[in-house]
Amino acid sequence: MEAYLVDWLNLFFRWFHVIAGVAWIGASFYFVWLDLNLKTPPQWKKDKGIKGDLWAIHGGGIYEVAKYELEPQSMPEKLHWFKWEAYTTWLTGFALLCIMYYWGADQYLIDPTKMLLTQFEAIAISLGFLVGGFVFYELLVKSPLQYSPKLFGAILFAGLVFSAYALGEIFSDRAAYLHVGALIGTIMAGNVFFGIMPAQRELVRAIEAGEKPDARPAQFAKLRSTHNNYFTLPLIFIMISNHYPMTYGHEHAWLILALISFNAAFVRHYFNLKHQGQNKPWILVAGLVFLFGIIGYMLPKPVDMTDELIADNQVLEISKQRCASCHAAKPTQVGFAAAPGGIMLETLDELLVNKPRILQAVQSNYMPLANMTNMTEDERTKMIRWASE
Ligand code: HEC
Repeated sequence: MEAYLVDWLNLFFRWFHVIAGVAWIGASFYFVWLDLNLKTPPQWKKDKGIKGDLWAIHGGGIYEVAKYELEPQSMPEKLHWFKWEAYTTWLTGFALLCIMYYWGADQYLIDPTKMLLTQFEAIAISLGFLVGGFVFYELLVKSPLQYSPKLFGAILFAGLVFSAYALGEIFSDRAAYLHVGALIGTIMAGNVFFGIMPAQRELVRAIEAGEKPDARPAQFAKLRSTHNNYFTLPLIFIMISNHYPMTYGHEHAWLILALISFNAAFVRHYFNLKHQGQNKPWILVAGLVFLFGIIGYMLPKPVDMTDELIADNQVLEISKQRCASCHAAKPTQVGFAAAPGGIMLETLDELLVNKPRILQAVQSNYMPLANMTNMTEDERTKMIRWASE
């Protein structure tokens, strides 16, 4: 019963998290696109303090958008702010982290083959990492490094790659990836809460008080917003990577994360340039070539098939012992209400149908989850051999 209800909580917050994330990143993409596409307005608009304008058609209507250099001649009655998209994404993401990785720490967060942690210790490390990583970013962004974007980017990237490596030594592979994503999401939401919103409130306050707005907070907010923009594609990769054990389950998972994230940010750069009228297709080509390089590098090693063939019955026995406590119509493993991933591994037919996925999951050490059923290396090798036949 408990497992069933937790599954629902998980579904509810995951669903909510994705919707909020779509709204946040959608709005963010839209405004970046808008900013980079603004054209010099006619003189009469300039006289009103408008810096750039843009025309668009959508949903059967034509829109005229104008961006002010700083203050409009008068403040509108209703000014729309975009902040709840970000906060809601973070809050639902954190709820999901608590439900899945804290409540289910033994299944998803802790990997006893890496570090024997209690649930309390694992949660403390997780929270410490998120807070520590966030503080690191805030110190960095407020330091003079903010004026050297390349060096800043390199240090930030190195920090994230190092976290991926360190977390991979502490937590389960999947949790390690997820935590890098959670940190990036926290930095992004923090950029909105601690950087962009205060700057905007200051702008509005100054305008309403009839003072000349200070341009510096607005520039600083823009810098944070740019960071968020480059974070988006890597972040989304990390969030969906949990469906691909070949990534987080790779023996150099941290390196895979670094390579794919770098490539994704690079591709994002292409779009940012393109919105500004600089079309540099070589960036996309280079990104694609780089991706092929990564795919080649990650190619699974061929399984040594010289040994004796593994009989079906042998594998069925292994599966009954090591897999079927979870992968059954009625799992006996505590915490499971239904066959995870809809995959049942109780009969030979079920094993045969799932052969390719079994290979993936067992070869990458993802399954059995946190090796809760104590599968031996010998059994693992046998299952891999059988599944790759
Ligand atoms: C402790 C419970 C547990 C045990 C034991 C277990 N699994 Fe799983 N398995 C899961 C869960 C939970 C998921 C879904 C994870 C997810 O959402 O990505 C899963 C998913 C899978 C998937 C789908 C992975 C994918 O996303 O393509 C395969 C294949 C799989 N398991 C095979 C196995 C095999 C083979 C064994 C035995 C060697 C095994 N599992 C043992 C819990 C378990």
